[in-house]
Amino acid sequence: MKIVSIIGARPQFIKAAVITKLIEKEKYMQEIIVHTGQHYDDNMSKVFFDELEIRKPDYNLGVGSASHAVQTGLMLQRIEKVLIDEEPDWVLVYGDTNSTIAGSLAAAKLHIKTAHVEAGLRSFNMNMPEEINRILTDRISNLLFAPTINAVKLLEKEGLGGNTVFTGDVMYDSILHYQKLSDKTFPLGKITNIENFYLATIHRQENTDDKTRLQNIFSAFSELGNKVIVPLHPRTKKLLDKITYSENVKIIEPVSYLEMITLLKNCKKVLTDSGGLQKEAYFLKKPCITLRDETEWIETLEGNWNFVVGTNKEDILKKINIKKFGKQSNAFGNGKAGEKIVAELERLGTIKDTTK
Ligand code: UD1
Repeated sequence: MKIVSIIGARPQFIKAAVITKLIEKEKYMQEIIVHTGQHYDDNMSKVFFDELEIRKPDYNLGVGSASHAVQTGLMLQRIEKVLIDEEPDWVLVYGDTNSTIAGSLAAAKLHIKTAHVEAGLRSFNMNMPEEINRILTDRISNLLFAPTINAVKLLEKEGLGGNTVFTGDVMYDSILHYQKLSDKTFPLGKITNIENFYLATIHRQENTDDKTRLQNIFSAFSELGNKVIVPLHPRTKKLLDKITYSENVKIIEPVSYLEMITLLKNCKKVLTDSGGLQKEAYFLKKPCITLRDETEWIETLEGNWNFVVGTNKEDILKKINIKKFGKQSNAFGNGKAGEKIVAELERLGTIKDTTK
């Protein structure tokens, strides 16, 4: 059985690392890794392959940065060529990026079966490029791997229950494995000498491309009282010299996955607009303030572990002081999502001995 996996952005490398290693162990499965080139800086891409020991992609499509239409269009053209040459049984796509929609759309038009890891997530905000990408990807995929029961229910509501399998979340599998390694590889002192800090990340288009929202966020950071460490996504850098913030805000280069886990473990609280980091904060029992107007990960809201506050300074400063937290549920599965996904692909796939 031959699988072409399409990845291109930071969170996809983390998710794919789990699955790729499991596929390698399967005698009758062969994986072709395609990197679209959506993220291309070493600290946004190469460092994840090195650290998570993902083998070099078989194809790097070198698409890079461009408008949504140009970026997705170039990916479509280049992925189509790979799929025609490789003739896979399945295409595997992850999450909600432009690489996800390009991979699933190219496959669907060639009548190649597609499986979507992290299906059924919805923010109900169609202004987000990610929401468009995930709705369309779920609609045209043949197999939907849902990370939570809420995702299963959403897919059922959309009439896609027949294609859906509840797996748990591969990001939970990943953190269970890598949190043991993070401190050994990157003790906090190697990344920063700051203690008692808040950890913050900002990269969503709705925040980075709107000066008022970004200024509100950084004004709140400036008044938090403690240091705020911000590993900065390149998208956010572009507007940074147009806003003001005080000295307690410490901007650093993007960090690797293991460095991020170390920062997470040592921080007081997290402030972020990232979907992945909201969950990772929850997994490591760090309270989170979500700097967006909605979240797809509603499970993290229980017990005060996560508050969706938007970008209003007063709201951010009010919620950061909450100190009472409830019990957590095991909404994200049992750490074996990757195994379930690979088993399901194997069960449904065309068994073909690729060793011959
Ligand atoms: C993308 C995904 C988002 C995901 C995020 C993870 C889409 C629509 N969005 O957003 O769902 O949460 O990745 O990080 O697919 N840039 C660099 N170097 C890089 C990568 C990006 O400088 O290595 C800059 C470019 O100027 C680019 C901008 O960042 O224009 C945005 O990159 P892009 O890939 O379009 O989207 P992300 O914001 O990273």
